[in-house]
Amino acid sequence: MKIGPTIDKEFDAFSVNYTEDMTKCVPYYQKLLHSFSENLPPTFSPNRILDLGCGNGNVTAQLLQKFHKASYELLDASKEMITLCKGRFIEYDIQYHTTFFNDFHFAENKYDMIVAGFSIHHCTGEEKEGLLKKIYTSLTPNGVFGICDLMIDRNSLEHHQLLKDWKKFVLNNYANEDKWKWLMEHYQEFDKPDDLNNYIKWLKKAGFTKIEPFVNEHYWVYLRAFK
Ligand SMILES: C[S@@+](CC[C@H](N)C(=O)[O-])C[C@H]1O[C@@H](n2cnc3c(N)ncnc32)[C@H](O)[C@@H]1O
Repeated sequence: MKIGPTIDKEFDAFSVNYTEDMTKCVPYYQKLLHSFSENLPPTFSPNRILDLGCGNGNVTAQLLQKFHKASYELLDASKEMITLCKGRFIEYDIQYHTTFFNDFHFAENKYDMIVAGFSIHHCTGEEKEGLLKKIYTSLTPNGVFGICDLMIDRNSLEHHQLLKDWKKFVLNNYANEDKWKWLMEHYQEFDKPDDLNNYIKWLKKAGFTKIEPFVNEHYWVYLRAFK
């Protein structure tokens, strides 16, 4: 698979076999996806949920099992990903936004839960910091932000070991190196991971008080922050 010219076009192409590709290319993908609906306070019952960078809807599908009465808004820059979600969730009343994070209006105090599965690492550090502030503002009091992503500094010593472990994982799932080569091209071009400590610093600066990394499997992290 050739990488695309822009992030939205890249994911238009990636959408074709998305869940299988993610499961076989991203360590702990299924575990991290499941984290969004687990370990929440028993009384937590969101009315409005926003899925940022929804892709083909794998995070929303998890949440729908638990919060089937909530109203959902799904946002993604990729038209093809949004089309897949519309087909997948045809029986649900969901609002869709085909747009970039930067162009979306985050209304104040609107959502009880905002989620971002493997989508924010496409932003620069400065964009992440700004986005986390908007997310905080857009949550209702006691609202929850859940995020899973690769959280590591590319310039750290540990990054070399991460790549070795990651390659081993991918080569266990594919007979030759084609997928790994494509994945590393994608990683170089589109992925801008940041260290967990940076996320925690930005979340605190945005105003979040209770921040909990629930899953931390060798830099593959799920964390939750409460407004
Ligand atoms: C790796 S996929 C994750 C999809 C899904 N959340 C999941 O966990 O499987 C990243 C998604 O984020 C979207 N995305 C990346 N950067 C974006 C941006 N700046 N604005 C809107 N969507 C973006 C991509 O189009 C893609 O569908």
